[in-house]
Amino acid sequence: MTNQDALKQLVGQEAVKFIKDGMIVGLGTGSTVKFMVDALGKKVADQHLSIVGVPTSKRTKEQANHLDIPTKDLDEVDHIDLTIDGADQIDKNFQGIKGGGGAHLWEKIVAINSTKNIWIVDQSKLADQLGSFPLPLEVIPYGSHQLFQRLVARGFNPVFRMINNQYVTTDSNNYIIDLHLHQIKDPQNLALTLDQMTGIVEHGLFLNIVNTVIVGQENGPKVLQ
Ligand code: 5RP
Repeated sequence: MTNQDALKQLVGQEAVKFIKDGMIVGLGTGSTVKFMVDALGKKVADQHLSIVGVPTSKRTKEQANHLDIPTKDLDEVDHIDLTIDGADQIDKNFQGIKGGGGAHLWEKIVAINSTKNIWIVDQSKLADQLGSFPLPLEVIPYGSHQLFQRLVARGFNPVFRMINNQYVTTDSNNYIIDLHLHQIKDPQNLALTLDQMTGIVEHGLFLNIVNTVIVGQENGPKVLQ
């Protein structure tokens, strides 16, 4: 295991301490969350916990079910006590970029329906300013090349996310466009602009969503609040 994976595993294990018997828990997506779900599977089995997971992607649902963590879709629960998710970049004000794994649409919907949100990251994800990590947009395929041109015209440096010459598609069958902005001086303003562009289903700016971040550091996990 790489050093970075070891830090991810550490924060995953730390995060499950926040999960108590009877909770309905939003389960994020990504390699860090994968460690957390592994740890949760073990905790549920060892302590015979009765919890329900609400997965934010097909990948996470599959992993949870494989570990015998019961899951429900968002519309089958009346609340979510806590959601634990990863992030791609977090600034000092706990504003973040998500969607590196292409799941930010479902992640944001689950997050805004959660009483509490925690992000788990290794220390490389902390930044003074957002933007060096490309900002993902989930976009409707219909007319996406026209949208792409509008993003170019605004100077947003868009790039369609492709693998093997194929468009990457999300769990909702949409495309991803990554904006290579390098720095985001005013995240609120950019979020407003993107919210108003037709064809963008959701952007990866997660603003004012979390108040707890667990950071994996060499000397152990640190809980920031
Ligand atoms: C997926 C996400 C992930 O949480 C984010 O990309 C972090 O992933 P990882 O833990 O693999 O670095 O937003 O859409």
